[in-house]
Amino acid sequence: AAQHSRIADLIAEHSALEGPMLPILHAVQAEYGHVPAEALPQIAEALNISRAEAQGVMSFYHDFRDHPAGRHVLKICRAEACQAMGSEALAAAAKARLGVDWHGTTPNGALTLEPVFCLGLCACAPAAMLDGQVIGRVDAARLDEIATEAGA
Ligand code: FES
Repeated sequence: AAQHSRIADLIAEHSALEGPMLPILHAVQAEYGHVPAEALPQIAEALNISRAEAQGVMSFYHDFRDHPAGRHVLKICRAEACQAMGSEALAAAAKARLGVDWHGTTPNGALTLEPVFCLGLCACAPAAMLDGQVIGRVDAARLDEIATEAGA
């Protein structure tokens, strides 16, 4: 019930904006670290759209998650410069090492894997980011170190 009214507050704070959906989703995720399942119908109702539409908007953007993230978040760049330097193979290695797909979290809750589109580190491709810190020229060995350091 507390969560319901807190989400209602976040909706109310942003509903006067033009295009309130994204600001509301960002506010809810900032508060909870993810968008809880019960938030979507509440948002849909407040904005007078269907739940399917709200769900569609949320899944269109890569930023929103519907589960809490792990203790660490590893993002791997999938944009062009990194692809040219082997980021697809790196992503495949990461998925195999961690045993998860994109947006997945290792079973021990240590690490979540996310795709990202250009980290501004194209000169040091392929690039990744761990908890907001960019890392250039990541290869499978470096990736394994990163995962181990993160406890995954
Ligand atoms: Fe990967 Fe720019 S394309 S950092």
